[in-house]
Amino acid sequence: MNQLEMKKQAAKAALQYVKPDTIVGVGSGSTVNCFIEALGSMKDQIKGAVAASKASEELLQQQGIEVFSANEVSELDIYVDGADEVNPQKMMIKGGGAALTREKIVAALAKKFICIVDQSKQVDVLGSTFPLPVEVIPMARSQVARKLVALGGSPEYRESVVTDNGNVILDVHHFLIMSPMAMEKELNNVAGVVTNGIFALRPADVIIVGTPDGTKIVE
Ligand code: 5RP
Repeated sequence: MNQLEMKKQAAKAALQYVKPDTIVGVGSGSTVNCFIEALGSMKDQIKGAVAASKASEELLQQQGIEVFSANEVSELDIYVDGADEVNPQKMMIKGGGAALTREKIVAALAKKFICIVDQSKQVDVLGSTFPLPVEVIPMARSQVARKLVALGGSPEYRESVVTDNGNVILDVHHFLIMSPMAMEKELNNVAGVVTNGIFALRPADVIIVGTPDGTKIVE
């Protein structure tokens, strides 16, 4: 079974958490694209969705699913999103698709965060396989990069990427995150940082992992 098939499997399994007549929070990325396709089969049973990126918004609309803005809802029953890494405490690194800020905003509206991944995303320590994305206000790029170096990382400017919010991304390499909650807070306090890709203060509630032996659900 290849990686895409594992992603599809996890995405399909997430449908069991979608309740009728609700508005579903939807993240972004290739695994979420599989979820959006699967959600199309339930479009007449749900009220609609709130999307964490313009790309997801377009795909939802193509499936005939009504898209609401985050300002139109006070709470979501569930938020479904992928991750670049997930640890045993259900904390994640996200932002490989540069949508981390909107993902954190929509996740914060949800009662339950359902994370859908293939098995390659499971790690013991965050930062072991994937650089940490940090969304930065463009004028602060160099000073934030210096601060990230002082913290022990090797930031790299993600060339020609502008986020949906008009900002830039620094990917921090060689950055093992031993205390995810403390590091999430510390990075958010750096002037010029909009959001960092550590999702530890609000971890997932359910991890659905696609594996060659079937779907594994960790609640
Ligand atoms: C986008 C994200 C994605 O959820 C993450 O990059 C995983 O992507 P994929 O499902 O394509 O592996 O955080 O900002």
